[in-house]
Amino acid sequence: MKWQLKKENKTPIYVEIMELIINKIQTGELVAGEKLPTEREMAKWFAVNRSTVVHALEELVSLGWIIRKQGSGTRVNEGNWGRLSAPRTNWKNYLSQNVFNQQNPYVTELKKMIAEENCLDLYTGELPRELIPDFQLPSYHWEDFLKEGSQLSESGYGPLQQTIIERLQKDQQLTINKKQLLITSGAQQGLFLLLQVLLTQGDSIAIENPSFLYSLPIFQAAGIRLYGVKMDTEGISLTDLKDLIVTKKIKMLILNPNYQNPTGNTMSLARRKALVELCGTYQIPIVEDDVFGDLNFQERLPLLKNLAPQQVIYLGSLSKILGSSTKIGWICAPESIIQPLAEARQVMDFSLSIFPQVLATSALGDDSYEEKLADLRDQLKVRAIQFQNAMEEFAADWQVHEIKGGFYAWLEWRHGEITNKQWRYFLEEKLAIAPSFLFSSEKNALRINFTRLSQENFPQFLATFRRITHRLKAK
Ligand SMILES: Cc1ncc(COP(=O)(O)O)c(C=O)c1O
Repeated sequence: MKWQLKKENKTPIYVEIMELIINKIQTGELVAGEKLPTEREMAKWFAVNRSTVVHALEELVSLGWIIRKQGSGTRVNEGNWGRLSAPRTNWKNYLSQNVFNQQNPYVTELKKMIAEENCLDLYTGELPRELIPDFQLPSYHWEDFLKEGSQLSESGYGPLQQTIIERLQKDQQLTINKKQLLITSGAQQGLFLLLQVLLTQGDSIAIENPSFLYSLPIFQAAGIRLYGVKMDTEGISLTDLKDLIVTKKIKMLILNPNYQNPTGNTMSLARRKALVELCGTYQIPIVEDDVFGDLNFQERLPLLKNLAPQQVIYLGSLSKILGSSTKIGWICAPESIIQPLAEARQVMDFSLSIFPQVLATSALGDDSYEEKLADLRDQLKVRAIQFQNAMEEFAADWQVHEIKGGFYAWLEWRHGEITNKQWRYFLEEKLAIAPSFLFSSEKNALRINFTRLSQENFPQFLATFRRITHRLKAK
């Protein structure tokens, strides 16, 4: 049994060796626990230096495919999802890196302007108050809340879990049970728990480029390396992703496939299918962040979680419908992951209060919820169309893609990079937008939350945007 390499000139030899071994594991030629040939044997078969084989094996160890032990050789790993262990928040590390104080000066100014309410705020990632559906709150006695406490477990409040399970089934054809669901304090807590439990300092993860995750301090603080994968209108580039998986030891992929923050982009069905296949091949878990999923203007595409239930961890939230102060989100994942996530949260004492959970159950379970959501979608669509039509005037200067749902329009400046001085025009004109440098290293685009543009403030927006565009062109 002699193994052979294709020796394609573009691929480094050690990567070819890795791919060969991965392929043998996937096709079942090598089974869990089985011993691999020795380094010396492989070096001879492939006619390469032994150090090249060692390099490939070391990479496979860190990717979790194989295990190497002194004396007993190299064997195929038996686990699937990599490490699962106790949380490892290193607060000292957080503080010494001072990551929480590193706010971008542009954002500091934006936030000041927004707080002083003297600007048109198209920056904030939230619906304007007048569009958030209204619900009558239940009238409870204190005693009732105390009684409800008996339905509270470490994974959340039972009736809320049940309501979410039913909604996921009805709206997304996603079938899960309570053991596969964890209620979180918003999707961001979900992300935080995932990185605490599934990743360790120095690990690499892939995200979209651009992505709202780019400037979140939680990754930097935990010592996680982020790699951006460039996108076209159908979603992330799978060729680039594959390169990253192999060369950067990517441990996890976090994506926002529906109405992505910041580009508003939606991944096509073909790309979704090819993506889950690629990640299945390399056993890379995908985190599907779907906080905008319910705000669709057209028919929905299947979730990644529908396409590969075991491979995908799904995140949802009420923030984008009922306001971000609701702070209710959820994680759907295989049971073997939910348990350690719930335990990690318990250890960190991030347990959830019963109050928001009871109120969220009442809103989500309200008879009028669906009707109000449909009404919200209609109103957002009207605003999206109004925005897109108005942007036609600027077609020679800004490229705007069709808006298919969610909150965001992504405007690409057709004349190259916008300089720091020019970005200040938006501040000077009191128009709060999110520049692309908050989401990637690029400086040629901006994100607008079009849902905040009403009939009343639209003329003001248009006049301001015209002025800024003229100033940008004048250079
Ligand atoms: C794509 C995406 N995921 C997650 C979040 C965080 O959601 P939550 O408010 O539920 O923590 C946001 C909020 O801006 C978001 O845009």
